[in-house]
Amino acid sequence: MTARVRRVVCPGSFDPVTNGHLDIVERAASLFDEVVVAVGINASKNRLFTPEERIDMLTTACERFPNVRVDAFSGLLTDFCQQHGIVAIVKGLRAVSDFDYELQMAQMNSSLAPIETVFVPTSPEYSFLASSLVKEVASFGGDVAGLVPAFVHTRLTERLADRSAERARPEDGA
Ligand code: PNS
Repeated sequence: MTARVRRVVCPGSFDPVTNGHLDIVERAASLFDEVVVAVGINASKNRLFTPEERIDMLTTACERFPNVRVDAFSGLLTDFCQQHGIVAIVKGLRAVSDFDYELQMAQMNSSLAPIETVFVPTSPEYSFLASSLVKEVASFGGDVAGLVPAFVHTRLTERLADRSAERARPEDGA
């Protein structure tokens, strides 16, 4: 009899990946046989990094986990799960405030396909961490160096500087 591989997904926007995401990925990798970190691509959302950049940063950040690979999806997460033999969605829960929405998504997803959602409590040191906050704090010059991998911090600083220079430039033809 062949053992069944327990393949799970850690989905997200990862704009950009934070140490909080990596904590959840690492813990998922210790619980399950294979972890697919899946970057959700939604063209209607305004992101700081392109899907390719987000995938690239995640791939580098996850290199140290042998049973983790990075992929991307658009459309329904449950379709991606079914196409890739994924049995469960792993989500980090930072606080009670995350729970309402995450429960709703978990129940919707399980109504669409036989996919379980497994909630992993975020480690206390990351309970305040969100990509959106990291970007906001960094854009005002706050120190976020300890919240993302060092190479992500470099790329974030560069991208925010580019954006700020673009905004400062007078419009063409003006
Ligand atoms: O990092 P985020 O922005 O919280 O990630 C959200 C994501 C990508 C996991 C979520 O928006 C998602 O699953 N999108 C795919 C579309 C989908 O399946 N929607 C129905 C969810 S019930």
